[in-house]
Amino acid sequence: MQDLLALQEEALILFARLDTPHALEEAKARYLGKSGVLTEKLKALGKLPPEARKTAGAAINQVKTALENALQNRREALAQAQLEEELRATALDVTLPGRTPGRGAAHPITRTLERVQTLFRSMGFEVAEGPEIETDANNFTALNIPEDHPARAMHDTFYLDPGHVLRTHTSPVQIRYLQAHPLPVKIIAPGRVFRCDSDVTHTPMFHQVEGLWVAEEGVSFAALKGLLIEFMRAFFEVNDLQARFRPSFFPFTEPSAEMDIGCVICGGDGCRVCSHTGWLEVLGCGLVHPKVLEPLGIDSERYIGMAFGLGVERLAMIRYGVDDLRTFYENDLRFLRRFR
Ligand code: PHE
Repeated sequence: MQDLLALQEEALILFARLDTPHALEEAKARYLGKSGVLTEKLKALGKLPPEARKTAGAAINQVKTALENALQNRREALAQAQLEEELRATALDVTLPGRTPGRGAAHPITRTLERVQTLFRSMGFEVAEGPEIETDANNFTALNIPEDHPARAMHDTFYLDPGHVLRTHTSPVQIRYLQAHPLPVKIIAPGRVFRCDSDVTHTPMFHQVEGLWVAEEGVSFAALKGLLIEFMRAFFEVNDLQARFRPSFFPFTEPSAEMDIGCVICGGDGCRVCSHTGWLEVLGCGLVHPKVLEPLGIDSERYIGMAFGLGVERLAMIRYGVDDLRTFYENDLRFLRRFR
């Protein structure tokens, strides 16, 4: 009896110490296997007298049950520990931010173009386009730009051959559109233009949005001013934005003006962006010159046209407070990411 209890004690201590299922099953065999210690004791029962056999048998079976229970508990504990270990090893923290593929975004100039288009569309303008390679005739002659006009000089214009240029402005779209469509027309023409020029406020390629509205009524210089002021107020989200129109010269408009807006950075007090004048020049405009309309077969007594051309980079620089135009085209992601 005494050695049975000692045996049980020893086995229980051993089971508790073993920490792999394999070692545990080996230990089980040692006690309960075919020739295990306990099994041998059961076999030996047959040699005892019947009375002693009964009590001894009961005692051995009790120990056997105790060992089986301990084994089962230990098996479960080991399986549980193993599961926990596996979970720890393959831990997935679903609260961590994921590694997503970098998301792209529209270039600030593209966004500005879209904004300009959305606003003019809401004022009833259709969007038209023209080619970037333009005939000298459309880019200049049809726009009443005489042979000796400085805009034709090689230092401004990229000539491809004597008859073709990279358009220096979007105004030739006026000609193309008027040739192909019946009046009235009310369009804007956004796109790239090219000039042989490069400094903090000029890049050889930049964007303009041309505006052209030719109709029998509704078009006047006053209407042009009202329209452009309304646009600038909406574009810069400044309700009481100041504006002024200075007399200017373009061969294809008469009268011609340049539009300034009150500096949106300093509110007119004077700052670096407005060169301490309180004003920012934003576009050129005017009423379409009869010398542009008449060759297209348009009766300039009956129809009035308004036209304007604005620089998209210029608007973007003012809106985003960028002071070097060239940074838009250096493809520096540290700069571009600021506009997402
Ligand atoms: N085409 C002119 C320029 O590039 C701008 C302009 C367009 C002026 C339409 C008047 C009317 O400077």
